Amino acid sequence: MLKRIDKFVILLISALVSSGFAVEKPTTPQGTCLTAECHADYSKRAYVHGPTALGDCKVCHKPLNPQEHTYEPAREGPDLCQYCHLDQTTKKYLHDPLEKKGDCVQCHDPHGSDNNSFLSSRTVADSCKECHEVTKDMKFLHGPIAAGECTVCHNPHGSDYERLLDIDPNELCFTCHEVTMNELKKFEFVHEPAKGECTGCHDVHGANNAQMLIDEAPKLCYSCHEDIQKIAETSKYKHSAVTEKDSCLLCHTPHASTVKSGLKDTPIKLCMTCHDKPIEKSKGEILEAFTAQIEGKKFLHGPVAEQDCAGCHTSHGSEHFRLLVKEYPPQFYAPFSKENYGLCFSCHSESMVLTRETKNLTDFRNGNVNLHFLHVNKERRGRTCRSCHTTHASNLPRHIRKSVPYGKWELPVQYKKTKTGGSCEPGCHLPYAYDRRAPVEYKKPKPPTANATTKGGQ
Ligand code: HEC
Ligand code: HEC
Ligand code: HEC
Ligand code: HEC
Ligand code: HEC
Ligand code: HEC
Ligand code: HEC
Ligand code: HEC
Ligand code: HEC
Ligand code: HEC
Ligand code: HEC
Ligand code: HEC
Ligand code: HEC
Repeated sequence: MLKRIDKFVILLISALVSSGFAVEKPTTPQGTCLTAECHADYSKRAYVHGPTALGDCKVCHKPLNPQEHTYEPAREGPDLCQYCHLDQTTKKYLHDPLEKKGDCVQCHDPHGSDNNSFLSSRTVADSCKECHEVTKDMKFLHGPIAAGECTVCHNPHGSDYERLLDIDPNELCFTCHEVTMNELKKFEFVHEPAKGECTGCHDVHGANNAQMLIDEAPKLCYSCHEDIQKIAETSKYKHSAVTEKDSCLLCHTPHASTVKSGLKDTPIKLCMTCHDKPIEKSKGEILEAFTAQIEGKKFLHGPVAEQDCAGCHTSHGSEHFRLLVKEYPPQFYAPFSKENYGLCFSCHSESMVLTRETKNLTDFRNGNVNLHFLHVNKERRGRTCRSCHTTHASNLPRHIRKSVPYGKWELPVQYKKTKTGGSCEPGCHLPYAYDRRAPVEYKKPKPPTANATTKGGQ
């Protein structure tokens, strides 16, 4: 403490010396110091401290030796100011400069200043900058900080919340961000961290990413969703919508949503933002526009009508062709195994292709002869479901295809349904009919020579 007084005295003397008033010392220091000859500059400042304005120097400077014009502080440490200002040090958490040294003049000029609140620095932010560099090298600054405001959130002296926050940290952001608050209150699906952990994603002061995000999506999201990162990055079939910049935000909202799984819209609408047009996946491989597949179609496949894309597709990445949730062969011919049709059998009974004869498992039968079994259940060139069915929608009943790609040619199937059966006249074999009640007697036909070798596509 001695050191402080020494410094104080030296300062006082040196100031007086340097301003040339050392010789003409006032004999009665109190009340006469603000005369034109002495410390007149104190009263010329835009803001003058109460006691200084009154010329009451003694309340802080106790004369030591009036002849030598030396003084000591009227009270020790923070008491000097707390004599009149009691509020600043009453809070639970004190700002380090007040706590450790109790020294108010680290930020304030005790006499007055041209700045608000007698700050020694021009603005509040400049004052904080003396000791903190919270926005160093940041490209994007938070609104209040860009305006040089630190004390809208922090109390410079002390507070009842940690980090010198003047407002309950859980409410802090909502005092200004009403829109976000209302979304969180009203929307049914609220993202877990948005319930109180805004700083899990935003840096409150600023950041190098837009919206003050601590990182860009998808990295931002991966920091908590490692499982999704694994799927997105290591799946055999990836979805570029998930791996590109800002990806997750193409489909998800970060805070809250009216749609399940925090989606920005219903899945089908989200998918249509990109799949409303053909997409060139790689050279020569074109993904058909989804919209074109369902537009004007008489029959939509059950889950498509329900807009349940997730019944068949994953969004983030998959081990199966076309991001399917389970296996479904991309070819027209495949050796039969149950697993190959995991997709279809997740909703339709597998027994419809496992039983040779049936009276009820399927309508695709001639008498009791199960024609599904006959076509699909073959060790070598089993016909996959896609040889006869489309997946998303069709104009023919039972989603029978209009045609089958055959090289570059679309080979017409010419399916006709009757009350008790049906018939087709594909270019690949003779016209065939089937009838569940009065089974058709087949003359010995030549074995079907269907030889479509096309890859994907329906
Ligand atoms: C509220 C308390 C307070 C009042 C009132 C006050 N001073 Fe000071 N004064 C201080 C403190 C504290 C310092 C030391 C400042 C520092 O360490 O930076 C100081 C320093 C000084 C100095 C040294 C140079 C400087 O400006 O830092 C002079 C000269 C001085 N005061 C004169 C006066 C005069 C004259 C008056 C009355 C018109 C007065 N003071 C009123 C607290 C006060
Ligand atoms: C003798 C009483 C007294 C002492 C001691 C005193 N002050 Fe003050 N202070 C006042 C008065 C009176 C005001 C004017 C109150 C007002 O304007 O609301 C004031 C106002 C202030 C303000 C507010 C300015 C504003 O814009 O609202 C600050 C900052 C301040 N004092 C800092 C200090 C510091 C720092 C010390 C210690 C070096 C100190 N005071 C010591 C009486 C005192
Ligand atoms: C770290 C810097 C800093 C220190 C140290 C500091 N203050 Fe302040 N003080 C400020 C700032 C900045 C403001 C202006 C707040 C604003 O504009 O919202 C302020 C405002 C004030 C005010 C005006 C009323 C209020 O509370 O906002 C008073 C009085 C005051 N300080 C007194 C003190 C006293 C007494 C001490 C020492 C016990 C002290 N200050 C220490 C930075 C500081
Ligand atoms: C004289 C130096 C100094 C000034 C000026 C200063 N601070 Fe500090 N501040 C410190 C020190 C020292 C600490 C404690 C060490 C740390 O956390 O960096 C601290 C800590 C803090 C903390 C963290 C408190 C906690 O609980 O971890 C906040 C917030 C803070 N200061 C805000 C401000 C604001 C706002 C201003 C301007 C009004 C300001 N500081 C001005 C020195 C200063
Ligand atoms: C919008 C409110 C807000 C504003 C404005 C604000 N801060 Fe903060 N500040 C916070 C919050 C909230 C924390 C706590 C962050 C955390 O715990 O992750 C914090 C933490 C701090 C810390 C503690 C260390 C750190 O970086 O976590 C310091 C120092 C600090 N702020 C200084 C400042 C300064 C200096 C300014 C003005 C340039 C300022 N703050 C403006 C809200 C704000
Ligand atoms: C004192 C008022 C205030 C408080 C408190 C506040 N903000 Fe802000 N915030 C603003 C203003 C002003 C803007 C700029 C608005 C604009 O540009 O449209 C802003 C902008 C933002 C932005 C968007 C930045 C951009 O680039 O558009 C985010 C994100 C944000 N604030 C998050 C937060 C978080 C998180 C908190 C709580 C830790 C918080 N804010 C507390 C006033 C505040
Ligand atoms: C999971 C990460 C995450 C959390 C947690 C989070 N945000 Fe955000 N926030 C974002 C992202 C990402 C954006 C940018 C949205 C965009 O570009 O579409 C954003 C944007 C904002 C914006 C700009 C306006 C807007 O809505 O686009 C504000 C304001 C905001 N957040 C405030 C908050 C507040 C307040 C909290 C805490 C209640 C919070 N955020 C929690 C990730 C998050
Ligand atoms: C700070 C950690 C954190 C970050 C960062 C984060 N999340 Fe989350 N997220 C969670 C937690 C916790 C849950 C709830 C538990 C769960 O489902 O894993 C969750 C759940 C979700 C859910 C499921 C919601 C539901 O109703 O089923 C989605 C979707 C989601 N997050 C997307 C995102 C996106 C997109 C981002 C990046 C913008 C992101 N998350 C960033 C922690 C985080
Ligand atoms: C193309 C749209 C789309 C994109 C891009 C996307 N998602 Fe999703 N996400 C969805 C859909 C749709 C669901 C709901 C899935 C369901 O119902 O099975 C979902 C569900 C989730 C879930 C909760 C259920 C689960 O699978 O764990 C999390 C967490 C999630 N997404 C995180 C992310 C993250 C992180 C990213 C960015 C890497 C991301 N999503 C990108 C569409 C998307
Ligand atoms: C932001 C644009 C975008 C959105 C939104 C989007 N996709 Fe995609 N999708 C693509 C692109 C680009 C490709 C082709 C490149 C690739 O394989 O990633 C693709 C490919 C696909 C494929 C074929 C994958 C393969 O392996 O051949 C399927 C299936 C698919 N998307 C389904 C969906 C579903 C379902 C949704 C809605 C939940 C959706 N997409 C939303 C852009 C998008
Ligand atoms: C019953 C299962 C099923 C449902 C439900 C389903 N899809 Fe598909 N989808 C498939 C299959 C199988 C393929 C592969 C088509 C092929 O190559 O034969 C596919 C392919 C796609 C493709 C790639 C382009 C193409 O046609 O080859 C897109 C895009 C797509 N689906 C989007 C969607 C969207 C959006 C929904 C929800 C409205 C949806 N799908 C619902 C089974 C389904
Ligand atoms: C997510 C469940 C689901 C999956 C997976 C699924 N379907 Fe369907 N499918 C349905 C529903 C629901 C209906 C409508 C049933 C009804 O109307 O009786 C339907 C109807 C059909 C019909 C027409 C039946 C009729 O009565 O007109 C055919 C053909 C069909 N599915 C074939 C397939 C094929 C082939 C696959 C595999 C690529 C498949 N489905 C995968 C749910 C599914
Ligand atoms: C050789 C052509 C062909 C193949 C291959 C084929 N289907 Fe069919 N499927 C039909 C015909 C024709 C009908 C219509 C029967 C009727 O209503 O008369 C049908 C009807 C259906 C129905 C409606 C219910 C029923 O059984 O009558 C479902 C579901 C179905 N098929 C699923 C599949 C699945 C799953 C596969 C692949 C494992 C598949 N189909 C393979 C021709 C085929």
